[in-house]
Amino acid sequence: MCGIVGYIGSRPVLPVLLDGLSRLEYRGYDSAGVAFMQGDRIRICKKKGRLAQLEQALSEADLGDMPIRAGIGHTRWATHGAPSDENSHPHLSANGRVAVVHNGIIENYIELKRYLCAQGCCFHSETDTEVVAHLVDLHYARDCAGDLMAAVRQTLAELEGSYALGVLCADDPDRFIAARKDSPLVIGLGEDGHFIASDIPALLGQTRRVLIMEDREIAVIEKNQVRLFDALGRPVCREPLEVQWDSAAAEKNGFEHFMMKEIFEEPRAVRDTLTRHIRRGTLELPAIDWPRALRQVCIVACGTAYHAGMVAKTVIEQLCRVPVVVDIASEFRYHDPILDEETMVIIISQSGETLDTLAAMREARRRGGHILAVVNVVGSSIAREADTVLYTAAGPEIAVASTKAYSTQLAAMYLVAFDLARRLNRMSDNQVREQIESLLALPAMLDAVLASQDEIQRFAASHFNAHSIFFMGRGLDYALAMEASLKLKEISYIHSEAYPGGELKHGTIALIEPGTLVVCPLTQPALVDKMISNIREVKARGALILGILTPSCQRAADVCDAVFMLPDVPARLAPVVAVTPTQLLAYYMSLNKGLDVDKPRNLAKSVTVE
Ligand code: F6R
Repeated sequence: MCGIVGYIGSRPVLPVLLDGLSRLEYRGYDSAGVAFMQGDRIRICKKKGRLAQLEQALSEADLGDMPIRAGIGHTRWATHGAPSDENSHPHLSANGRVAVVHNGIIENYIELKRYLCAQGCCFHSETDTEVVAHLVDLHYARDCAGDLMAAVRQTLAELEGSYALGVLCADDPDRFIAARKDSPLVIGLGEDGHFIASDIPALLGQTRRVLIMEDREIAVIEKNQVRLFDALGRPVCREPLEVQWDSAAAEKNGFEHFMMKEIFEEPRAVRDTLTRHIRRGTLELPAIDWPRALRQVCIVACGTAYHAGMVAKTVIEQLCRVPVVVDIASEFRYHDPILDEETMVIIISQSGETLDTLAAMREARRRGGHILAVVNVVGSSIAREADTVLYTAAGPEIAVASTKAYSTQLAAMYLVAFDLARRLNRMSDNQVREQIESLLALPAMLDAVLASQDEIQRFAASHFNAHSIFFMGRGLDYALAMEASLKLKEISYIHSEAYPGGELKHGTIALIEPGTLVVCPLTQPALVDKMISNIREVKARGALILGILTPSCQRAADVCDAVFMLPDVPARLAPVVAVTPTQLLAYYMSLNKGLDVDKPRNLAKSVTVE
């Protein structure tokens, strides 16, 4: 989704902006642009397409010798108006005095545009953002006697919706302004200047000291200082955060794609997530405020994180005998969910910035739920607003397709399930200790799966032309199948559906024809005989079966056309290990089709609009 960068300082400004933008590419975008202060005017360059097109346009522009003092940049993921040069950010006020980059949606932009047109403003784009540039300029000249900060504050008071903003003003060349509400924005503190960016990885090439902006805060960024103010204009003092991730963590390190690198990081990421919360064989979680009379658990998330929640539902219900509902965050607010102070709400989010999930969390709090968030990005909005945070230790996830984040979300949710089972006396200390031992064996099993990745590579090489691929499983294998299917469709663009083994024959089996590939995770010995029957049903219609099997389900191998053997993982923990071959399958299908694995079409990494 849209990304923002900004810099003021003594380094060459354009390379800093372009480096930041290239680190934001992973969020998904369709155009890019920069605005920079040169002499006493703002210059602008923006292009539809990839960053390379912007770089090309800049290299062809006559930039003269005058130093560039500050700049803001943007990658756009179109919402209002198609991808085009005109709709790309930055947007300028009519006289060229004010330039703005924006992430989010200005919901009342139509009324504001009508008002601005009546004031004589001419619009050059179809975006919601352009109103901000005109409004700041109008207030600057008409109402605020040339006080940029006051003009921005007056503008923000008129905006409805969400925004992260960078504002540059030609009359005020020694600073720029940053502001946020419901869209992430961080400030980077450097030795020779200061930065803003939509997320921390974009800053890692420059600094690891960051200030995370809170909602409705405004910052004035200058070469030698950063001043932060709350919505009422009162100065805010905040200690910077020292980010632990280093810049190499956000680089490919010899892998062809981030996705592959991140799949290969799963053993490390799972190990780190577990060991962060386990001390000498016992659980050491942040104090989770479980309601005294726990009536239900409600897990809320989107996409891959939702699928991690599906696995957690089965595990928690089996171990704790407490009902668990799993809700898609974008639906949660609109179906009048039943929650109260006896409900534990667990929010799962890699980025901690997904707007639907954030909004659902706020609604859950309003309704009295206790909030535990399982989040990867330290200091993200969800992490800051939750009652308790359990951090996963995936490190920066750059590929749009989530892989190691899912594995670590599962690892964290097992810990939560064991914690609850212990509290409810459903498990003894010894039983928890045994489960912890099994969990700690998972990274070595993931290593073993990765060592056989060429089997999946070969399989993908002969099936990447498939039009449609089904995933079928029962119990935890169904929850896993949902994630496997999402991964495949998002990066290979192959139509795919995930079904519980017994459900296909209630309609969808009509789509099975000779040669249709059906992938079956088979890790639940208690369900394997039923799955064998379901496999026979689709095989009778000509389907081709790839089984992903644990040794305890070995007897299903006879009905499979191809088999990938997993290590001997306990059934309850199997999703952590069984997901990896399905991620590899999606990866190699995409690679064979010559697609952009890390940045699939239409998708954004951090979904900060509803
Ligand atoms: C799929 C994927 C998405 C995210 C979803 C939630 O590979 O990455 O489905 O899982 O957008 O994102 P977070 O976890 O950041 O809230």
